[in-house]
Amino acid sequence: MRDRLEAAQRAVAAHLVRVLAPFGDVPVAQAMRYAVTGGKRIRATLVIEGARLHGVRLERALWPAAAIEAMHAYSLVHDDLPAMDDDALRRGQPTVHMRWDEATAILTGDALQALAFELVTHKQVGCGDLRADLARSLACAAGAQGMVLGQALDIAAETAPQPLDLDQITALQAGKTGALIEWAATCGARMAGADPAPLSDYAAAVGLAFQIQDDVIDVTGNAAAAGKAVGKDAAAGKATFVSLLGLDGATRRAATLVDEAVDALSIYGKDAETLRQLARFVISRQT
Ligand code: IPE
Ligand code: IPE
Ligand code: MG
Ligand code: MG
Ligand code: MG
Repeated sequence: MRDRLEAAQRAVAAHLVRVLAPFGDVPVAQAMRYAVTGGKRIRATLVIEGARLHGVRLERALWPAAAIEAMHAYSLVHDDLPAMDDDALRRGQPTVHMRWDEATAILTGDALQALAFELVTHKQVGCGDLRADLARSLACAAGAQGMVLGQALDIAAETAPQPLDLDQITALQAGKTGALIEWAATCGARMAGADPAPLSDYAAAVGLAFQIQDDVIDVTGNAAAAGKAVGKDAAAGKATFVSLLGLDGATRRAATLVDEAVDALSIYGKDAETLRQLARFVISRQT
């Protein structure tokens, strides 16, 4: 799976370099290239592997794979802004507003979001109906019923009179990190006109496990390894899976979720081995 993960990482990185080449050298274009560089490419790998499972060629899958990474990169650039998490480090590098300035970071996020729709509707993706379906579902996953909703709930929690409970944190996660992961995992099935339900079940479990591990890293990780500031959730007095379940409880819950994710893939047999290993990687990662 390391091989496949690395191959997917390389392919999507090269694709992003290609599509951004004509954007020139204005600061916002430089910052877009910077913001899409690095990262584990978990979402792109979900697209590429989900597509491969359904016989969708890599040349087609690369467009939505690059699109979801552009959308994710936008969410990180804005998440790090002073008005949100006020972070100076991302992927081991200065955040966009530190390297450039806040206005450039806002515009870079805006432009990356627009880029995501440009990429997912490229004619190589497929017929017009499919491209419209992918654009619409991506808009729903990213917007005020998905990622943006989760981010808004997360920000609101910082000033709420009481810490959120487990149900509220789970709902927050479903938006904040779950929605884009769900879209990525089911994209290949959509492209093939196949039933996305097994991959949707897989993604629900993987997405939750992913967020639990993000919360674990915030408590147990160090900035050098994680490539971003840690200890922020406790400092902000936020309820997280770790504060609610304890470190052991959170780790056990994540492991159970990975077992559920693996089980959801049983109908695909050994073709889904990379996705199984990706689920295990999501909870073993330290970055
Ligand atoms: C980090 O996402 C931010 C969250 C959504 C919690 P990733 O851990 O996937 O970040 P990169 O893309 O690998 O940097
Ligand atoms: C960010 O969540 C999630 C999105 C950008 C959608 P966090 O604020 O927990 O992510 P990190 O910990 O900064 O990577
Ligand atoms: Mg945040
Ligand atoms: Mg953050
Ligand atoms: Mg976090």
